[in-house]
Amino acid sequence: MRISRTRKPADLRVCAGYMAATDPWVRLGRTYRDCLAALRAPREVYAAREKGAIAGFIVLQTYGVLNGYIQTVCVAPGLRGRGVGTELVRFAEKRILSKGPNVFMCVSSFNLGARKLYERLGYERAGLLKNFIIRGEDELLLRKTTGPRSEFARKARN
Ligand SMILES: CC(C)(COP(=O)(O)OP(=O)(O)OC[C@H]1O[C@@H](n2cnc3c(N)ncnc32)[C@H](O)[C@@H]1OP(=O)(O)O)[C@@H](O)C(=O)NCCC(=O)NCCS
Repeated sequence: MRISRTRKPADLRVCAGYMAATDPWVRLGRTYRDCLAALRAPREVYAAREKGAIAGFIVLQTYGVLNGYIQTVCVAPGLRGRGVGTELVRFAEKRILSKGPNVFMCVSSFNLGARKLYERLGYERAGLLKNFIIRGEDELLLRKTTGPRSEFARKARN
């Protein structure tokens, strides 16, 4: 599988289609147009391809307060449970942790499968955003860290 950045409108439409057809986005009330808007610049979209088709994708935000934020990860329905999501998250971590000591992401409280996967990959709960997208469902803010920012900055200087 090859993972590479894409800005192609046709690819972004495929990715938005994957999102709009599956939970958590269906349950969160996100339309295809909402999903497409969430993929557009200034985000970085990386697509994993198998035999030319998009097997899954990951969206990063590398600016702002929580820089190093994984905004979205989604695998094509027929290809789930085969390690594609893990590979995408590890790819994102490599990119993010070369620039800072923290990787952040949010996961919906009801998304038990994804929560289990992120816990296994070393993510810890850093906060709870109550009723964040829809009433009655919370978002968990997750963080994976290699240490304090001061230590990262010191190592980067040396
Ligand atoms: C969550 C998701 C990205 C994981 O990618 P994946 O390629 O299926 O995951 P991997 O094969 O690398 O890892 C498997 C683990 O993912 C988790 N998982 C979550 N949803 C799953 C699904 N529908 N099918 C299989 N595994 C799933 C399980 O913890 C599983 O571990 P297990 O095999 O011990 O039960 C993917 O299932 C997906 O796109 N789901 C729908 C969209 C979504 O929920 N995205 C996350 C938003 S925060």
